[in-house]
Parts: sequence; structure tokens; C-alpha cells
Amino acid sequence: MQISLQGQQVIRRPVIPAPVSIEESAETFTFPRKTVIGYSSKDMAFTARYLKDFYAFLTSQKSQIRVKAKGKTRGTIVLVLDPAIEQAEGYRLDIKRNQIIITGKNPQGVFFGVQSLSQLLYERKRSGDLRTLPCLTIVDYPRFPWRGLHLDVSRHFFDKDFIKRYIDILALHKMNTFHWHLVDDQGWRIEIKKYPKLTSVGAWRIDREDLPWTERPDQKSGEKATYGGFYTREEIKDIVAYAAERFITIVPEIEMPAHVSSVLAAYPEYSCRQVPITVPPGSHWPCTNVYCAGNDSTFLFLQDILDEVMNLFPSKYIHIGGDEADKTEWKQCLRCQARIRDENLKDEHELQSYFIRRIDKYLTQKGRILIGWDEILEGGLAENATVMSWRGTEGGIRAARMNHDVVMTPESHCYFDRYQSPDRDIEPRAFPYGNYTNLEKVYSYDPVPEGLTSSEAKHILGAQGNAWTEYMLYGSHVEYMILPRAIALSEVVWSPYGRKDYPEFLTRLENQLDLLHDKGINFYIPSVEGLKDTLTFTDTLQVRLINPYPFGEIRYTIDGSEPSYGSPRYRKPLFINRNTVIKAAIYLKNGRSGKVKTGRFIRE
Ligand code: ACM
Ligand code: ZN
Repeated sequence: MQISLQGQQVIRRPVIPAPVSIEESAETFTFPRKTVIGYSSKDMAFTARYLKDFYAFLTSQKSQIRVKAKGKTRGTIVLVLDPAIEQAEGYRLDIKRNQIIITGKNPQGVFFGVQSLSQLLYERKRSGDLRTLPCLTIVDYPRFPWRGLHLDVSRHFFDKDFIKRYIDILALHKMNTFHWHLVDDQGWRIEIKKYPKLTSVGAWRIDREDLPWTERPDQKSGEKATYGGFYTREEIKDIVAYAAERFITIVPEIEMPAHVSSVLAAYPEYSCRQVPITVPPGSHWPCTNVYCAGNDSTFLFLQDILDEVMNLFPSKYIHIGGDEADKTEWKQCLRCQARIRDENLKDEHELQSYFIRRIDKYLTQKGRILIGWDEILEGGLAENATVMSWRGTEGGIRAARMNHDVVMTPESHCYFDRYQSPDRDIEPRAFPYGNYTNLEKVYSYDPVPEGLTSSEAKHILGAQGNAWTEYMLYGSHVEYMILPRAIALSEVVWSPYGRKDYPEFLTRLENQLDLLHDKGINFYIPSVEGLKDTLTFTDTLQVRLINPYPFGEIRYTIDGSEPSYGSPRYRKPLFINRNTVIKAAIYLKNGRSGKVKTGRFIRE
């Protein structure tokens, strides 16, 4: 199982993201009749149970494993800490003949070690021998401290159970940051005690889900807003605790000064014109509904909200949005114009900067760090702000050169609301503009932009994938859009720079997809390449069908019927000499298949 990679011998064990190093010996570990997981301190109790539960999931029976805090050297599998491990979040996994030892820099590292062990165990299950494991040593630590996934719960609301599933998906890929986009024009999703209308009004919109996102008329008088939802404080606490057990930090995003129609529908007094509006049921563009920056009470309102948010979320970072604020209202507002004069601001861009700076001071004083989309650079970046670069990498480069920390999430590579292939006609409707973003493109991404010096590059905290949900109504669809792209991204943010190798990554992917399948998690499977919608030819034609994965198989029909797993398997190019319709799809061993691609061949 060894392949050569840039001259090194790399073991192709299906651990994703690829570890820093794996050394394998010829020996074998065998599970004893009674397996005990021991752990050296209380802060690993959850991780020990997590491993026990994973083993029970593999064996589909009540776990034979007992978990016991036994002290560090007893037990079949032991979880221990070693502060001497240098790298943050690092771990070492030793599978010896008689014992498995996972050593972490901290409990978080041990949790990551458990994830690697789980993937190795899952491979054994697939091979039909769960009693043994190859002896090996993995030494591992992440390349970046910010390894994230984002989820927009405003455009469509996802309940608490799905948020936990999403957190589980992060955990399976050693991601550590869940960016929770809780506020946008189309819905406010977090209960705030002091301002109950944020949820009683702001969380609900008129149901126009039967219409395309961009063609939904506003709520008319007499119509009732019934579509939406929100998280209670108790639910948020529960989710924050659930994430913390899995060593995942939740960064809440409370948008300002734009993307807040839902707020202004509830509290129009914080807008410039102070006239009532309704929560838009679909696209709202440009983002003209903004907070009045000239009204001091706007800031008191936001400080109250942030106080409650900070009470619920222990995260060091608080995301305040900052993107896409249309300045029309500010130009016409007497209070905003007075603010510009009084504060000696040049224009509305500097007014936005004033706004963010004021919030930055507040968060800083509370011991938190403001993070915002790269528009917060416009008009001057707030002193302590971290920048999330989404409109390409330019904002990230500028911020890093100003000695500010940066999280990279360029829409070109990290926006998982985009199509995953050029086959838009057979894919569920996705973000309609721009190019598609396939797995290889995500995998190719490097979070450190070219041209940064090494000291500037230190400001790149990492990267994250974003799931904007205008076109995603259900959790299974969210999973379909983020997977397997998030798996590729996990390797981008974890594995050493020189370790990345796309074809080799694909050889490890099947194990992980099977694991996701067994866990009931949805994911995208590519469609067959090599088929054009319509192709005319003369005489005869050779048709070559391509499966971009090194696993799975192509099944096809030539009689116009839908292919199934029972259809002929594609093994070599097809020769056709008359009008033919080829329908083909990729099937995985676990029974899942990608979308059916159709090619029409017309003989002239
Ligand atoms: C964004 O996509 N508007 C951050
Ligand atoms: Zn105003």
C-alpha cells in the first residue's frame, strides 16, 4: 500500500485530511476479547465515549468496549496528554501490537487522533476484519488554526438537530470552527431577551418557496408571515456545548450595517427612514435596508444584542458581517450626514468604517475580537479587526499587509453554494452566476496568497467553506452541496503544504464517502464526463465515458431508458454507427449513484 510522492514513500492509509507523517511496521494489533479505553484526565471523558460509540456503530451492536478512567498506562486504548508536543492541536497515534496510544498536546489533539483511528477502523470494517489494525505511528498537527465551515440559516432555517449533524461533519474532518450566519435580510434566527420582536417578527416571512428565489414578491397587506424559525437561548446553549465537546468553536455572525431587513421589519426605528418594512421572502438586492449610522440608539441596540450574543457564545471572535452595504439611505439621511460632518468623515465609506470601528471598540473592551467580511477595509480598517476575505484574495492580502489577521474564503474556491460541475441542467438549482467549483478546484486552493512575505503570511489564520442557502431548503441538500468539497478543504487547511496530491487524495476519498454513507450523510457524486448534450457525426463514432474518480463504476444504457445498477458496466469506449441516446451514471459500491448524464448522438 505504498506509493511514491515527490520522492518520499507515503503510506496510502485512508486518513483524511492527510497526516503530517505515517510510519507503518509489518506488525498487527489485535483487539483482545475485552477492550478497555483508558484516559488520563477528565477532559477526555467525552472523547473516550465518542470512540466507544464509533466502535459500536462499526459493529452494529452494543459496544464490547468499556470506557474507564484507568490512569495513563492501563487499557487497550489509552488517551493521554503530553504538553511537550510542540504544535497546537497536535497528536500522535501509536498502534502497537498490544496497545493503541493516542497522545495529544491537549484534549483537542486527542480528539483528532480519535478521528484518524476511526478512519483506520472504518477501513478495516470495509475489508471485513475489524479485529485487527496495522501497527503504525501517525504524527500529526494542522497547518492552520482556523479550519472552518459556515452555514447560512437565514435564507433557509435548519433546526437544532441538523446543526448538530453539521457540527458532526466538521468533527469528522478535524475542522474546528463553525461560522454560524444567524442574521440576514430573510430572517433573524437567535432569540434575544431584550428585543423579542427580533424573533416574533424578524424570524418569519411570507411563504413564497414555490417561486424562484429571485422572483418572490414582498409580503402584501393581509398576508401572514408563516415561514421561518429561530433558535431559543436554550437551544443555542445546547448547540454550543455540543460543539465544545467536539472541540469546535462556534463563531456567531450578527450582520451589520446591512443584510438586516429582518431586524428593521421588527424595529424600523433603527433604520434611516424609520418606515415599516416586511421580511423579504427571497432575494433582496441591493442591500438598501441598513441601520442608521447617525442614530446613537442604533449602537445601544446593537451593544445590547452583542451582550446577549457574547453571553451565549464563548468564542473569541464575533463576526459582525459588514458586507455589501448599499449607501443610498445614508446619503439621504440627515442624521447620517450630520454624523459625517461631526466626525470629519470624508464620505459614506468612512461612515461605514466609523460604524465598524465603534463596534470594534465595544467588542475589544469586552475581550472579544471583531471579524468581518472584507468590505470592512473600505473607508479604513478598525484597529483590532480580523478580515474574512471573500471577494477573491485581495482583501486578505491588504489586511495581512496592514498586520491584521485574515481568514480566507474566496468565493472562487470556498463558496459551496456554487455548482459542482458544468452539468447545470441535471444538478439541483444552485447559485446561478459565475463559474462552477468542482472538487479539484477546492483541493487546489492554497490559503496563503502569492506575494506575501513570510511575516505577512503569518496573519493568514486559515480558510473556511461557506454554505449560503438561498437554493438549499433541506439539510440533505446542504450536505450534498458541501460534500465532498468540505473534505477537500479539510486537507487544504490541515495537511502540510507539500503533502497535497489530488490523484492520491482521491484514492483515500472512497473510504470517507463510505463512512459518510453509513452515517446517513448525503454527498455529491460526479456525473459521467465525455457526453455532450447533442453531437452529430458521420459514419462511426467512438464514445469515451469518464469517471473522474478512481473508484466506482459507470453503468449505461443505449436505448433511452434510465440506467440502474443492473445496466451494462462501461469498460471500454463504445462504438456507435446510428442515432443513439447514451445515458450513464457513476455508481459507488455502497449503492449510491450520481446524476444521470444524457448524450444524444445524431448520424448525419
Ligand atoms: C458575502 O458573500 N456577501 C459575504
Ligand atoms: Zn441614517
